[in-house]
Amino acid sequence: MAKCCMLYLVYLLIYDIHDVQAYSFEILSNLTTELFQIKSYDKTLRPRNDQSQNISLDVKFNFLSINKFDELEGKLVCTAFLGLAWTDDFLTWDYSTYPIGRFTLPQTLVWKPDFVLRNGFTEFKELGGSFYNVILTVDGDVAWNPYQVFETKCALDVTYFPFDSQTCDIVFTMWSHFTFQVSINPTVDNIIMGEYTSNALWTIESTSQNVDNTGSRSVITYSLNIKRKPSYYVSTIILPVVFLGILNILVFVLPADAGEKNVLLHYRRAWFYGISDIS
Ligand SMILES: *[C@@H]1O[C@H](CO)[C@@H](O)[C@H](O)[C@H]1NC(C)=O
Ligand SMILES: *[C@@H]1O[C@H](CO)[C@@H](O)[C@H](O)[C@H]1NC(C)=O
Repeated sequence: MAKCCMLYLVYLLIYDIHDVQAYSFEILSNLTTELFQIKSYDKTLRPRNDQSQNISLDVKFNFLSINKFDELEGKLVCTAFLGLAWTDDFLTWDYSTYPIGRFTLPQTLVWKPDFVLRNGFTEFKELGGSFYNVILTVDGDVAWNPYQVFETKCALDVTYFPFDSQTCDIVFTMWSHFTFQVSINPTVDNIIMGEYTSNALWTIESTSQNVDNTGSRSVITYSLNIKRKPSYYVSTIILPVVFLGILNILVFVLPADAGEKNVLLHYRRAWFYGISDIS
């Protein structure tokens, strides 16, 4: 008996009790009818009862991987997802009438902040996609986690190649809302790296974030300090060149009529062409 209760407790701890919801489809359907039809929700308007009040946009940046760093174009391609949350005054409901803690809706149905990548390579696009959902909570909290491949500009300094480090910024801003309308509010103090998968050519040495709510538009900058892993370049470029140099010198050490000299020249040639093949 005690064992059974323990198991039940563990079950409750693992599966957040708030997620165990017993409501009928009819209640949910009545709720969405009330929110979107009876109260005629307008997703084009900033969802504040008092329009003089700002919307505080909670932001978390989960970095997943560096896909590519194109040195010639100065383009960093990475995969990440954002954890965005805000309060919508018009998406609240009375829990006693509709006993629903939270539910999921397509992102296209609700108002979303125009939070965009400011130093991107491609034209502005809405984050997420039509099949992405937002999660609505009874008190009007909206959570949205757009997953994206971000292409950002990153100027490179290759003075110390291949022992160089680079700093790349990923900058997001509110595009058309002023800071007094929507302000960015980071809920953690750095980029979240918990699910980061390492890259073969680059190591992330450090990361930082900086939010600026003093300008007309709210801006958040995520900085990545990345260091090149030199071993690939050392083994494919530097070491072969050094060995070729040594072989060249050895050619002069051998007497002119030594048969080995030809062998050595042969090796050198073979090595040289081997390298040309690689590059
Ligand atoms: C849903 O709305 C209909 C029409 O207003 C009503 O008859 C019905 O009782 C409601 N269902 C629930 C579970 O509240
Ligand atoms: C947003 O509103 C809160 C309180 O409603 C206020 O403390 C904060 O300073 C405002 N932020 C901006 C950027 O106006």
